[in-house]
Amino acid sequence: MRISEKLAEMMNEQFGNEMGASMQYMQIAAYFDGRSLPKFAEFFYAQATEEQEHAMKFLHYLLDIGAEVFIPAIEAPVYEIADTAASFQMSLDWENEVTAQIYALMDTAMEEKDYAAQNFLQWFVTEQVEEVASMETLLDVVKRVGEKNLFMIESYLVRGEETPAA
Ligand code: FEO
Repeated sequence: MRISEKLAEMMNEQFGNEMGASMQYMQIAAYFDGRSLPKFAEFFYAQATEEQEHAMKFLHYLLDIGAEVFIPAIEAPVYEIADTAASFQMSLDWENEVTAQIYALMDTAMEEKDYAAQNFLQWFVTEQVEEVASMETLLDVVKRVGEKNLFMIESYLVRGEETPAA
């Protein structure tokens, strides 16, 4: 096994954290889907898929370096979502948390001089910058536009898709 036990354990945990993020985004997508906001639902379904892909990167990395995969228990997502702004705030908080988890992994990889793990984790460091920035922007826009106008934007977008191009 070309990884310390500690780092392998942390990576297994991170598989769970990424799957937890996926489930939370799926829950938020369902919230929007159930409220006739398909564009927001689509965005969060896509986020959920991305998080599953992140989890799979950890699983494959562990296998590639000859470590064992132990899929951990994954906490149920938060079901109560007050409104659109709350869903984006929740997502931003989640992404900040994931960033801290990735940094903790990187700290350990650096302490252990595990260069392969550092290289692998660098992708996540970059990805988190993008994910936090995009959630911050969306939260900002949602707060500015307000709940009522969000619905109008959605209706407009859906109508646009249904109308054949001239
Ligand atoms: Fe995989 Fe959005 O953290």
